Amino acid sequence: MEVIVKETYEEVSRLAAELIADVIRRKPKAVLGLATGSTPLGTYKELIRLHQEEGLDFSRVNTFNLDEYVGLAHDHPQSYHCFMWENLFKHLNVNPRNVHIPDGTAKDIPGFCRWYEEQIVKSGGLDVQLLGIGGNGHIAFNEPGSSLGSRTRVKTLDERTRQDNARFFRNMNEVPRYAITMGIGTIMDARQLVLLANGSGKADAITRTCEGPITAIVPATIVQLHPKATIIVDKPASVKLTREYPAEPSVLVLA
Ligand code: PGA
Repeated sequence: MEVIVKETYEEVSRLAAELIADVIRRKPKAVLGLATGSTPLGTYKELIRLHQEEGLDFSRVNTFNLDEYVGLAHDHPQSYHCFMWENLFKHLNVNPRNVHIPDGTAKDIPGFCRWYEEQIVKSGGLDVQLLGIGGNGHIAFNEPGSSLGSRTRVKTLDERTRQDNARFFRNMNEVPRYAITMGIGTIMDARQLVLLANGSGKADAITRTCEGPITAIVPATIVQLHPKATIIVDKPASVKLTREYPAEPSVLVLA
């Protein structure tokens, strides 16, 4: 696990976008695992710039999103479908057929979750999974206490998560109570993980993720077991870390 501390959110975003772009350049049919929330917005802005100004080609890329609220239609402004099209996909040359986002309106949710897992496997598996982290240490909507081996399924949202996300809804009653989320086992199957955090509100969760023991109470701690995980944080999110971390990924150059 590599922990990188950048001065600013913009630098976090640029490095994350560069890691993803590198995967796409090496493998034009790359399978990307994508995330929603405030954290990845800068990364998406930079990926859009790389596409529009430097010709980064998404035409053969496949994408799988981590999660979606149960009960929100695709065109609901707070649905993650809307979020992804508005903030990323509509600005790229992705093939809509290659875009996968859990369907919060599925009639048979367990059946849908099995299908989603199968599609990830059929596509060849996730080459890189982008992750944010909740203030409570969740990844995707795998809330504290989630099985560390879990697969895609429906989860009840933690009260803290609902409060964190209430800013996007008119009142607490409108904040969904359930979500479909990739499981922790699904995420851990990705070949590479890139976990981002910015702001002091993430400092506790980041310290536990980077330096604490692995525990289902802080689901993000599982990334310590991943063979290729990069955690990129800005200064405010790093303030409680007790060790020194570099500002750049280490590059091994073999003679
Ligand atoms: P945020 O959410 O990016 O909006 O802070 C992250 C998360 O809950 O995973």
